Amino acid sequence: MIQRAMFMCFVVLLASCNESPYMQGKRLYAANCANCHMDDGSGLASLIPPLKSSKLIGDVSMACVIAYGIRDTIFRDSVFLPREMPSFTRLSETEVTNIINYVNHTWHNDFKETTILDVEAALKKCPK
Ligand code: HEC
Repeated sequence: MIQRAMFMCFVVLLASCNESPYMQGKRLYAANCANCHMDDGSGLASLIPPLKSSKLIGDVSMACVIAYGIRDTIFRDSVFLPREMPSFTRLSETEVTNIINYVNHTWHNDFKETTILDVEAALKKCPK
């Protein structure tokens, strides 16, 4: 009986090691971002920039991009293509924080936790 209980504990430990500590962020990323930036953050050719190598990884001003989007164009084959990142006004500050932590934890070598207070402060300073 004791052996069985110990075995079960071991299984539970293994399972928890494999889970990302930012499960909500991971889920939100999958639901809101991965269709464009891909699950592995690699983006889509020249239309969608990769996230894993973005200069905004590790930078809290990523909150501005998520909350307000980017309206931009690229010039290719003699035409301007719209290259628009939608805004996510429906995401709460907690959800934005969780996405940022998931993304940074996954693709930033020098990970530091971002807090909701950091995100609130960054959102007040977004370029309008
Ligand atoms: C409909 C497609 C689409 C979705 C969904 C989307 N993005 Fe984007 N994202 C883009 C495009 C296109 C750009 C480039 C915009 C530009 O520079 O003109 C971009 C740019 C970015 C950038 C800036 C990258 C850089 O290095 O300049 C970040 C950060 C980012 N997105 C994060 C996210 C996150 C986080 C989510 C989910 C909450 C998300 N995006 C959802 C299309 C999308």
